[in-house]
Amino acid sequence: MHKDRKLLIAGNWKMNKTVAEGLDLVQGLRRELAGVKEVDIVVCPPYTALSEVSKIIMDSNLRLGAQNMSEQAPGAYTGEIAAAMLKEFSVRYVILGHSERRQFQKESSELIAKKALAAHAASLKPIVCIGETLEEREKGVTEQILEQQLRGSLAGLSKEQMAETVVAYEPVWAIGTGKTATTQQAQDAHAFIRKVLVSLFDDAVAKRVRIQYGGSVKPANARELMSQPDVDGALVGGASLEVRSFTDIIKNSI
Ligand code: 13P
Repeated sequence: MHKDRKLLIAGNWKMNKTVAEGLDLVQGLRRELAGVKEVDIVVCPPYTALSEVSKIIMDSNLRLGAQNMSEQAPGAYTGEIAAAMLKEFSVRYVILGHSERRQFQKESSELIAKKALAAHAASLKPIVCIGETLEEREKGVTEQILEQQLRGSLAGLSKEQMAETVVAYEPVWAIGTGKTATTQQAQDAHAFIRKVLVSLFDDAVAKRVRIQYGGSVKPANARELMSQPDVDGALVGGASLEVRSFTDIIKNSI
């Protein structure tokens, strides 16, 4: 381990993989990553594959995450999934407020904060995503946007809950584009995020929170990104869909 926070590398499969394809992938990951203890490894399949994937990774070093959940308790909310239902499959983490959901489902930071509270109430660890668009970066308002999103999406969390929350910095312009943030851009944004966490919570909490980088993470750039002092892991999209590339990202990060 190269810093006091243990690296957390999660694969966000997004809307990909049938159950059979998902099983193939996790069987491979389980085999290739057996014995890796230096990194917390999480896979986030679509809801439809959670049950089967959960069975395969039981008793392994892989943990299960979901890609979204409802802020509501079970009840009359057609098409939604409650935290309690995720718990049934031993889900430990849940991605909240991914930029694709902010964009396509119009999720607001206010809603994401409600989801984060509901996740904690069920002892799920939220991975709260934030990030600026290309337009915002070019306008020079990146820090304002990150601060607004943090303030809004983490509203109401206690210090104890925040310490168990993961923040994922995903610059929207780097997602699925092959354009990774430079290591300096990533480190600068992460250091800024940690500074905001100090002001919203306190120094001890900010030191404990793991901040992941996401956006075109590949085996070739993982080592350099993960070696930055404030980069504590990765949220990987495309490269998490294959055994080889996801395994190499993890091995290159140790
Ligand atoms: P890519 O790794 O495909 O750029 O996706 C990043 C992401 O959105 C992970 O949540």
